[in-house]
Amino acid sequence: MYYFLNSNRRPFLLLTLISLFFIFSNCARGTLGQNISDEYHNGMVVCAYPDAAQVGLNILKKGGNAVDAAVAVQFALEVTHPEAGNIGGGGFMVFRSAKGETNTLDFREKAPAGASQNMYLDSAGNVIPGMSISTHASSGVPGSVDGMVEAHRKYGHLKWAELLQPAIDLAHNGFNITKRLANDLNRTGSEFKKLNPGGNYLSKDDGWKERDLLVQEDLAKTLEQIRDKGRDGFYDGIVADQIVDEMKDGKGLITKTDLQNYHSVWRNALIGNYKGYKVITMPPPSSGGVALLQLLQMVEKYPLSRWGFNRDSTVQLMVEAERRVYADRSKYLGDPDFYNVPVDSLLRPAYNASRMSNFTWDKATPSTSIQPGKITGYESDQTTHYSIVDRGGNAVSITTTLNNSFGSKIFVKGAGFLLNDEMDDFSSKPGVPNMFGLVGGKANSIQPNKRMLSSMTPTILEKDGKLFMVVGTPGGSTIITSVFQTILNVVEFNKSMQQAVSSKRFHHQWLPDEVDVEKGAIDSTSRAKLEQKGYKIVERGPSGRVDAILKTKWNYYEGGADPRGDDTKMGW
Ligand code: DON
Repeated sequence: MYYFLNSNRRPFLLLTLISLFFIFSNCARGTLGQNISDEYHNGMVVCAYPDAAQVGLNILKKGGNAVDAAVAVQFALEVTHPEAGNIGGGGFMVFRSAKGETNTLDFREKAPAGASQNMYLDSAGNVIPGMSISTHASSGVPGSVDGMVEAHRKYGHLKWAELLQPAIDLAHNGFNITKRLANDLNRTGSEFKKLNPGGNYLSKDDGWKERDLLVQEDLAKTLEQIRDKGRDGFYDGIVADQIVDEMKDGKGLITKTDLQNYHSVWRNALIGNYKGYKVITMPPPSSGGVALLQLLQMVEKYPLSRWGFNRDSTVQLMVEAERRVYADRSKYLGDPDFYNVPVDSLLRPAYNASRMSNFTWDKATPSTSIQPGKITGYESDQTTHYSIVDRGGNAVSITTTLNNSFGSKIFVKGAGFLLNDEMDDFSSKPGVPNMFGLVGGKANSIQPNKRMLSSMTPTILEKDGKLFMVVGTPGGSTIITSVFQTILNVVEFNKSMQQAVSSKRFHHQWLPDEVDVEKGAIDSTSRAKLEQKGYKIVERGPSGRVDAILKTKWNYYEGGADPRGDDTKMGW
């Protein structure tokens, strides 16, 4: 005591107190051992490619809001992330303004008017393998350009042309590709060649290497059309003609009328609650929001945080909830403009409690004994996600897709972009799995102008009336369970945003009846206990690329960029 009180020692006392303050405050924030510079007060962009993240950050710094940055990132990803980016595809946006207003935009692709229920079946009624994937007939009418125009019209602040220009520059001047993109391009090179006999610029005879310059002149011209003419720069005029010519060359279905008739739709956000967190998510035609809210309801009453991250009880409970929710998805989810999707019934707490009533701790419930639930009162590997927050506190969560990696792998000749193969997300035939192993029936059957069901789950969480998290991911059927786990990792297991995103994941989707796990997701003791109860555990490769932002209680933003990809977080 004398040591500290002695006046000669007072400077030391002060220093000691200051050091202790820093140590304790950093411990409380859980940031010891992390990069403390991962704290941003003015805004953040987390997306799939570094150059696109930089574009978004520049827009925010220029005074653009989150929607402006989203538009710029969307077009920049078209150039830098051809696996999934996206003027030839579609997606969903969930928006929350700084004041708490919520909205969603559905710019999902639609079946062309010439599509029909049995279009992928042969004369014997069997699904023709691959026809809904790598053919001209696998493409839905693209929605992304209309979506961006609509989002900007309603919420944008900066000029449209200013948001397109960075993407045009990247396409025109080129950018140095990452090792991962070089590998992806090399892996797909022979398919690009086979499917585009007229030539393409993504395959390279001597192979791509890290840091090679990728220049896309045709794409730059297409983006200039969109910059100068907005919606008409894509759905009318030269680019529309190029799309229709491409369709004629390859027996595709999209016509000029389909393009002119395409419009994205504003839909009320789906809102749920988990332990006091408000969950703002995407309604149908995505199944993601409904499924996420059902899953959260099913596990809410259990002490997950006490059991611990990926311990056997935690995994068992989550897997059993997933099994039941994916069974419901197969029967009840589809495009609400065509099918009466029983959203309210599926989200009734009593319904979800009853779905879990036959769950037992003793053993796995076989999927054969689980059917879609009975609802009372009711008749009848590539996508990309980005999360953005701006200085004012507006938040945008967008997932967009071409479906497969590089979509159908078919270019629109002369226009420099790839077409989606989203038609595979329809159920080609009841009970026959699509490329993600998902089954469906009437709700998601093919009909002209209908939107195919999606699993994309762009989501925003709010706590005590304030922004809490922006989250989403690609990953086909695993999207829903990856978002589910990322939310629980923060809310139940107290992980930082980056830890929550990086943590290993597992997945169950009713059929096939197996738990897919990333290597190391479940420790050997928990795994042995689960196997003893009859769970079939199958190791798989990396699952999803979650890009998320957390608003901490210290009021700064903390990003989580998925280390499974080139995903990048940038803030200021
Ligand atoms: O909308 C869907 O659910 C799918 N088309 C998403 C595909 C996907 O995430 C593939 N990426 N890894």
